Amino acid sequence: MRAVIIGSGYVGSVTGAGLASRGHDVVCTDVDTQKIDSWNGDVIPISEPGLSELVLKHRGKNLAFTTDLAGALKSAEFVFVCVNTPQKESGVNKGSFDMRYFDGSARTIAQYAGDGVIVVEKSTVPLRTAEYLTRVLESNMGGKRFAVVSNPEFLAEGTAVEDFLFPDRILVGAKSEDEWARRKMAELYSWVPKERIVYSNIWSAELAKLANNLSLSSRLTAMNGLAELCEVTGADINEVSGVVGMDKRIGASFLRAGIGFGGSCFRKDVSALVYLMEHYFGPDNPYSKLYSSMLELNDYLRVRFVKSMNYHLHSFGGKTIVLLGLAFKPDTDDVRDAPAVTIAKYLLEDGAQLRIVDPKAVKHAKGVFAAAGLESRIVESRIELFEKPDDKVFDGSEGIALVTEWKEFKNIDFAGAAKRMCKPAWFFDGRNMFDHEKITSAGLNYYGVGKGVFYA
Ligand code: UDX
Ligand code: UDX
Repeated sequence: MRAVIIGSGYVGSVTGAGLASRGHDVVCTDVDTQKIDSWNGDVIPISEPGLSELVLKHRGKNLAFTTDLAGALKSAEFVFVCVNTPQKESGVNKGSFDMRYFDGSARTIAQYAGDGVIVVEKSTVPLRTAEYLTRVLESNMGGKRFAVVSNPEFLAEGTAVEDFLFPDRILVGAKSEDEWARRKMAELYSWVPKERIVYSNIWSAELAKLANNLSLSSRLTAMNGLAELCEVTGADINEVSGVVGMDKRIGASFLRAGIGFGGSCFRKDVSALVYLMEHYFGPDNPYSKLYSSMLELNDYLRVRFVKSMNYHLHSFGGKTIVLLGLAFKPDTDDVRDAPAVTIAKYLLEDGAQLRIVDPKAVKHAKGVFAAAGLESRIVESRIELFEKPDDKVFDGSEGIALVTEWKEFKNIDFAGAAKRMCKPAWFFDGRNMFDHEKITSAGLNYYGVGKGVFYA
């Protein structure tokens, strides 16, 4: 089957390469010429386990990358809209999604797509987006047949290829009169066991995406909210969440407390729900208050972590701190809403010198700090970037803060690092990655979120 992808970012590229690997003919498009050049070049623009292998295997065969969307649309049976829908920072619907790219895509599809096209909402969108999309297509396609389908992505970065090829479920939301489109979607996903393909009405599908991320982020918030209580009472959040996770009704995943969630989805999707609740039920209704509080708590976790560091280091001015991690989670180069960026910003504003270590994301450091409002003078003079935690990274530093739990950090020789650091030397574990005994026995004092302080 022939599919066109609009937007070759994190979601579009995995969707395109995944469909190609299952035998479909796929054209991935993007407005960004540089990005398309790089998809056609030796080093692909996104760091995602398994993606490069799929692209190299299928590119030039049944997978193409191009900026020519109009040309690609002419023979498309499916068009997946995977453009970014960032959070809207101002205007009448502040807090909801910025739909300008999505809406632009709708118009291009209407102009160039052929008869019988299935237009797939893959990007996360506000509820009832399919209604607008349908109207734009109806008004501009001159009677050609089409269907709009909501098929939200549940791809977590770092495991996105696996999530695509072996999904928990594929959700297909369509109107009842578009049964033909549902059948074609099932054919497109023919490698997925039938019982994992779920059909729903189109509005449920749009909402299910938001509901999924609300559920994941709220269980995280529940644990993160207890972490400070653990610190003042002597409880250990890892022990607490371990017990909670053994309850079959709850399950063990997404209970790891720390410096909170980041990434391009959770904050944006919870904010969109705040917006929706206010839109339908007025300001200050209990639902939007609850969801807003989740976001406030998540922001507070980043401040609290820096405050805890400050308590032990006393001040940051002129001191060198090693930040282990920049990406919002391991196994990705993505720095969108990364806790590391906020934490680094606070430390820099208080005069610290930073050495940031990240296996994949340091290439984005300059851009992301500029976007966070840091002067380039500060970024140039007070941040050093490293891809590996070589010994020299620790020379003369006073604290190490672990903000992204890359497995590469497991093998650090902490005893060696401690010898190179100023004393007292501190390790601040923002992800509770390490057993405190391992760190204190290496000669570093240890603070873990929700665990407390242990001296060397
Ligand atoms: C996706 C979803 O689409 C978003 O709604 C979801 O919440 C998170 O995941 P993602 O793939 O992560 O977004 O975004 P990004 O990596 O920024 O990729 C979007 C791509 O679309 C970019 O490469 C951008 O250049 C491209 N684009 C944007 C177009 O091709 N056309 C446009 O009009 C706008
Ligand atoms: C999320 C959804 O999981 C995915 O289905 C899709 O809708 C896109 O959004 P993603 O944002 O890529 O995926 O990563 P995810 O694994 O969900 O992690 C989000 C954040 O939660 C990360 O910052 C991660 O560090 C944090 N997290 C996760 C924790 O703090 N503790 C945990 O136990 C799990």
